[in-house]
Amino acid sequence: MSPVQGADIAATWTATTLPGGPFLSRRGPDLWLEEVRLADLAKEFGTPLYVYSRSAMRAAAAEYQQALANRPHLLCYAMKANSSLAVIKTFADMGLGFDIVSGGELARVIAAGGDPAKVVFSGVGKSRIEMAEALKAGVKCFNVESESELLTLSAVSSSLGQTAAVSLRVNPDVDAKTHPYISTGLKGNKFGVAHERARAAYALAARLPGIRVVGIDCHIGSQITEVAPYLDALERLLDLVEQVEADGALIHHIDLGGGLGITYTDEQPPAAGMLIAQLLARIEARGHGHRELLMEPGRSLVGNAGVMLTEVLVLKPSPEKNFCIVDAAMNDLIRPAMYQAWMGIVPCSQRFGEAMTWDVVGPVCESGDWLGRDRALTLKIGDMLAVLSAGAYGMTMASNYNTRPRAAEVMVDGDQATLIRRRETVQELFCNDILPA
Ligand code: LLP
Repeated sequence: MSPVQGADIAATWTATTLPGGPFLSRRGPDLWLEEVRLADLAKEFGTPLYVYSRSAMRAAAAEYQQALANRPHLLCYAMKANSSLAVIKTFADMGLGFDIVSGGELARVIAAGGDPAKVVFSGVGKSRIEMAEALKAGVKCFNVESESELLTLSAVSSSLGQTAAVSLRVNPDVDAKTHPYISTGLKGNKFGVAHERARAAYALAARLPGIRVVGIDCHIGSQITEVAPYLDALERLLDLVEQVEADGALIHHIDLGGGLGITYTDEQPPAAGMLIAQLLARIEARGHGHRELLMEPGRSLVGNAGVMLTEVLVLKPSPEKNFCIVDAAMNDLIRPAMYQAWMGIVPCSQRFGEAMTWDVVGPVCESGDWLGRDRALTLKIGDMLAVLSAGAYGMTMASNYNTRPRAAEVMVDGDQATLIRRRETVQELFCNDILPA
């Protein structure tokens, strides 16, 4: 690529389209999130740094809410995507409920001021302690994934003198056409009760003293970019609703899970409003319009609301490969290493000069520690880069591998930037270690 000069400069700057727009924008050479320049945040708070746009999160949730407005519904944010208290509070303030998968996530909802009565508890392996905690907190329902779990939950709730509200997570055996690690609705997956076992499982639930059936649910996978798999799963779920109600069960709500994809590069997932309109049309056509509809979106509410900022530490060109070593690594953002996920990487402040092709990698001692491969960038040591679409499954999947403290997090709202999680200290990483005498 040749250097861009003079009048071409402005054209080049504005030509880039960024996932996360309109909240993420390039103004002149600089990348801005809402009304805050990201390079300034990197300087103020250090790197690696996660930065989220509150307005982007609110806009994404509002789109779901508007599409569901005229019918009984509950939007349960799948907080595994991003469970920072400030994020939870943002959604709780909008009236959202939460999809949780652990006692830890329930504790976060409560700490952030969320309403446990709007919580659905998913997950293929809940412990007795987690079940008891959720019952005491008064969650809306348990999304139960096996007959074995039904028996345990009934025993736990009976011992507390309660009945547990239950929705059975059915595995509809549809192909979500996504990465195998995040596809969950096929027969070979560990998730849910097999479609053909569902009637028997509802019959068992009806016999158990500690169980009260309230719904049905499914979740077929994540980063889904087509409507068809949702419609297939919905049809199969509605077939089951009709069968189990004929058997005597009462299905109050239908929960279609999460999974709607976002644009990382050139994906074109349906807009949430469009997806919901098609689902509702099907639900109404089949005479199920009176039921409460639940959805559990995670990524589509937060993914493109966030970026991760990282500083260029080392430039290592060679005849085979040019390595750009940055201060964020697979422990901070594991999606590229784990799913070969492509995430945009752009400079916080563009430079002019010849671009070279770089592998952007972290300092962790693994060849799999990379954030992006073969990226055309014009770089100098000390430059700040932004990894885009990092608001979902970024910080929540971070670890302390290589004794690396986890990143700090900042929330932007208009021209205000607030630290919402301070950077971990090294001392905190081994404060629970015990040196034998
Ligand atoms: N409901 C259930 C039961 C789930 O298991 C999940 C995600 C969701 C809702 C939310 O799905 P979403 O709307 O975010 O697609 N770490 C992977 C994604 C794992 C998704 C796990 N389950 C990634 O970074 O791509």
